[in-house]
Amino acid sequence: MIERGNKDWRLMRRPRVDFGKETPRSGEFDDDYYSSEDGIAESAYVFIEGGDVINRMQSLNPGETLVIGELGLGTGLNLALVMQAWSENGPAGAHCHVITIEKHPLSKSQLRSANARWTSLSQEFGTILERWPSPIPGCHRRSELIDGLTVDFWWEDVSDALDDLDSYGHRWVDIWFLDGFTPTRNEAMWTYDVLHSAANLTREGGHVTTFTASSDVRRSLERCGFTMSKRPGFGPKRECLHGRLDQTSAASQNTSERRHEERQGRVKTTAWDQPMHVQQPKACLVLGAGLAGSHIARRLAERSCKVTVLERSAIGAGGSTQPQGVIYTRPSHKHGKLADFSLTAYEFSVDHHHRKFREGSLKSGTDGELSGYLQLASDDALERLAIAFNDEDSPLKVVSREEASAIAGVALPRGAQHYPRSGWLHTQAICSELLDHPNITVIEGLGDVTLRQSDGNQWFAMNACGDCIALGDTAVITTAWEAVRDARLDWLPLQPIRGQTTMLQSQKELTDLKCTVCHAGYTPPAKGGQHCIGATYGLNETSTEEREADHATNIQQLISHLPVLESAVASQTVTGQAAIRCATSDYLPIAGPVPDETLFQVTYDGLRHDRKRLIEEKQPNIKGLYVFTGLGSRGLTSAPLLSEILVSQMMKSPPPVTRYLHQAISPARFLRRRLIKGDAK
Ligand SMILES: Cc1cc2nc3c(=O)[nH]c(=O)nc-3n(C[C@H](O)[C@H](O)[C@H](O)COP(=O)(O)OP(=O)(O)OC[C@H]3O[C@@H](n4cnc5c(N)ncnc54)[C@H](O)[C@@H]3O)c2cc1C
Ligand SMILES: C[S@@+](CC[C@H](N)C(=O)[O-])C[C@H]1O[C@@H](n2cnc3c(N)ncnc32)[C@H](O)[C@@H]1O
Repeated sequence: MIERGNKDWRLMRRPRVDFGKETPRSGEFDDDYYSSEDGIAESAYVFIEGGDVINRMQSLNPGETLVIGELGLGTGLNLALVMQAWSENGPAGAHCHVITIEKHPLSKSQLRSANARWTSLSQEFGTILERWPSPIPGCHRRSELIDGLTVDFWWEDVSDALDDLDSYGHRWVDIWFLDGFTPTRNEAMWTYDVLHSAANLTREGGHVTTFTASSDVRRSLERCGFTMSKRPGFGPKRECLHGRLDQTSAASQNTSERRHEERQGRVKTTAWDQPMHVQQPKACLVLGAGLAGSHIARRLAERSCKVTVLERSAIGAGGSTQPQGVIYTRPSHKHGKLADFSLTAYEFSVDHHHRKFREGSLKSGTDGELSGYLQLASDDALERLAIAFNDEDSPLKVVSREEASAIAGVALPRGAQHYPRSGWLHTQAICSELLDHPNITVIEGLGDVTLRQSDGNQWFAMNACGDCIALGDTAVITTAWEAVRDARLDWLPLQPIRGQTTMLQSQKELTDLKCTVCHAGYTPPAKGGQHCIGATYGLNETSTEEREADHATNIQQLISHLPVLESAVASQTVTGQAAIRCATSDYLPIAGPVPDETLFQVTYDGLRHDRKRLIEEKQPNIKGLYVFTGLGSRGLTSAPLLSEILVSQMMKSPPPVTRYLHQAISPARFLRRRLIKGDAK
């Protein structure tokens, strides 16, 4: 499993690539990225044909997913060919999921240079470029890169990424493209350990294909259970390899393979975050129609699950009401779960919302505006971030006071972090857009709904009169801080935090504001002639009446950080609204299966004495019950990725994040912590 501790933050290092010749050539490995004869023809022959990609795509049934794994994304040529093959052959209702691993991701400008020559793939490369992830280590999911095709870009060393994926203990991959540089120059991509992890991730009948004919590679793959054969190589290469995983022989090697793993010192981890009982949801109840409920409902609906959303009041009427909220993040110069999650989620959210605006399902100016945001910061903090985030494609740029003022359109008192791809969103509109799907039924105005489980396979939604309103095989609780009202969740350390926003008329200098400026609070550009600024913090307060004192706090905060706006703000008659956020004791959100509290304590009792003890049992969870809450002040940032993580767990599909982030947001982390610390309930 990947662990980053609190190491210094560094973005991925860019490769040295020579574009002077016919084919891009790696400076580090002194090898071409693909054949100098004809890159497209080689990739199509070795990978698309060698992996039997077209046939496997064509034989998918609706609802089925073909998973392709690639070791060595490089210039993305194989990926572009997969996209082209999918648009021509992918059956309606089926999906293709590409997991591609790359330790030295090209910058956008390198990618542009590398692929300018491929005019027949210009559409595919345009799309890849548009959604090319920042050089942040970890996994970057790009949902619906094209219709029905999702890509996970893993910016990691191959061995770390495969080990991390392997730690889940699932076989996801149907076809492997092994595309490191030539084995003699790039040994790390072809070690037995790497191939062994790839084999562990391969479904029965899965294919492997590669350009090399190396006998070492062939022997390793055979040792891992693949039945290998040679076929003619492309161009001057005499032969290349492809193969199929024979499940029986792979299984027969398990004992010796396990011993090999032990010798390599690969430590398995206790699967306290992995649910014991998972059944693919077909009909799901979602309690609450805020950001959490809306995102998970939509993700499930897109995976053909029928969803009933049950809301006490109205869509986005709880904490998700703000006319303007910001997609913000919290980078640090040191790694840590909070900073790493916050940045990974930010990247995903920004990509998700740009796609929604591009597709036209969100309207710029009314539903939001992705005109960037500035976070004012001290010189010290900016200096440290400038070192950690020094890259042309970094999600954040450190800008001087003058640069920041030019970007904002008003004079700012100091330098800032600039996030050009972010902006503000109308939270309620986001919820409504997500819930507008044929597989989703929303029932509003129900009062408090509770959940009852029948014989372990059915969930009933009950109203206050005790009537059953809806039923499903699965239920997700997204009722924010009120989740603890369900006795099965009363151990979650949730905290309500009241927040009030203030509406200001856009006048004088306020009309010049071109992007959101964040300080202790936030001030976005106008929406319909008004700015929604905020917000106050009232720990453990749950009342939502509007307070004059809170407006005064918001205005004072704005003036003290942005004195240039004082005259535009002074003597305005203001209105606003208050709502309740939900925070957790470690400030990380919660999304995952609900553990059975008593069984969890019994199963993992051994962790009391030794936190690293390996306990084989998976998490004893309450069948079909999930919780998604604790979004704090960053629901617009975290909810898209959290719903993706949750749905991957519910559907047993590949995870969109590294395992340590998966664990960081698991509800069960609090029960585990309690055991380790020896705390009583
Ligand atoms: C003033 C303020 C400003 C904010 N600004 C930002 C910002 O700039 N950027 C950002 O990212 N985030 C911001 N947030 C935080 C963000 O709005 C929240 O993280 C997010 O809305 C939480 O969504 P949720 O779905 O978890 O909770 P909620 O939106 O509170 O949804 C929970 C829903 O469950 C319903 N419910 C509760 N109990 C029951 C029951 N028993 N039966 C049926 N329904 C029930 C409620 O009515 C509610 O609709 C802000 C929050 C506030 C309050
Ligand atoms: C032959 S190129 C891949 C070509 C690519 N498929 C394409 O379409 O352009 C090999 C790739 O493997 C990557 N690589 C090398 N060592 C790696 C490692 N240890 N982990 C992950 N990727 C690695 C290189 O950076 C390079 O991009």
